[in-house]
Amino acid sequence: MSGPTPREGVLEIPMYVPGRSRAKGHERVVKLSSNESALGTSDEAVAAYRAMAGELHRYPDGAAADLREAIARVHRAGGNALDPENIVCGEGSDEIIHLLVAAYAGPGDEVLHSTHGFVMYRLSALGVGATPVAAPERDWTPDVDALLERVTERTRLVFVSNPNPTGTCLPRRELARLHGGLPANVMLAVDAAYAEYVTRDDYASGIELVGAADNVVMTRTFSKAYGLAGLRLGWCYGPAGVVEVLNRLRGPFNVTAPAQAAGTAAVEDQAFIERARRHNETWRGWIQDELRHLGVPYIPSVTNFVCAEFPDEGRTAAAAIEHMARDGVLVRDMNAYGLPDHVRITVGLEEEVRAMARSLKTFLE
Ligand SMILES: Cc1ncc(COP(=O)(O)O)c(C=O)c1O
Repeated sequence: MSGPTPREGVLEIPMYVPGRSRAKGHERVVKLSSNESALGTSDEAVAAYRAMAGELHRYPDGAAADLREAIARVHRAGGNALDPENIVCGEGSDEIIHLLVAAYAGPGDEVLHSTHGFVMYRLSALGVGATPVAAPERDWTPDVDALLERVTERTRLVFVSNPNPTGTCLPRRELARLHGGLPANVMLAVDAAYAEYVTRDDYASGIELVGAADNVVMTRTFSKAYGLAGLRLGWCYGPAGVVEVLNRLRGPFNVTAPAQAAGTAAVEDQAFIERARRHNETWRGWIQDELRHLGVPYIPSVTNFVCAEFPDEGRTAAAAIEHMARDGVLVRDMNAYGLPDHVRITVGLEEEVRAMARSLKTFLE
């Protein structure tokens, strides 16, 4: 190959594989492959987005001030004293994750995560030449002891998906125990992308820890319950030192004006989030009941998806995915997580979830 060559290691970074959105022979599909919002987007957010159509020649507010204010206000009303000065917005939480890794890790450093933590921690670490280190999980959940055992003097960041891409979550005391066991120079990044769906009393998204320490940051997204995946919007809440670092490193206009407007309206429409949560509880329960009746093992979920297991060689996960795709139902393989026997099913609308179950039934027959 001629021409400029990338930095060593760049070409070894695996490509992120998104959830499928097309099925051969189907103009319309049932897309349950990316954990997107079942209920679409809040009408208020859509209206705010449309209202920006006449302003597209203007640069966005580089500080995303209104959006940060709105996020802080809504969380304050929910009992968490967030200061807008401690929030940084980004182009999806993917960008925030990448910025954190780029800011705090480099060649020779280690970025620790649990085996089935969000795949972008690993890819971002490889992207900056750092070494990703995976700690085994217990019951599909990050194992605090296994993580702490793998902390070395080279560890710069520990990422915990809470909830985890397997559908489970760590209780508050375990998250606190993990933080308590880390040296002060190691950052704990709690990725709470699915926090809005969790109804368990003992769940913690990391907000409380951020308020009390200099080495904890919590990331959040508008891509899931808020239904704004297409706009790319996420944020983090962190100590002043981390906020300053991210603000120096990010692009000056990293969040578009329509995304800021829609995000502000979306976060203020908590009635929509409440509906999303209720819908999710009902249909997540329904999916889990169906799987149980069909004899398909699954990982009990606190999120808007369920990971089902197909350990039988005659009826593999790959075959289930292909069978459902032929019926126009798209679900996600878990190959990127080293779980080739699992299929991840997003909680969709009632008719979508029923279509998935019908297809699965015919697969198993
Ligand atoms: C655990 C977790 N974190 C972060 C993200 C990234 O979300 P986004 O970049 O859309 O905000 C995802 C998306 O699938 C996720 O599952």
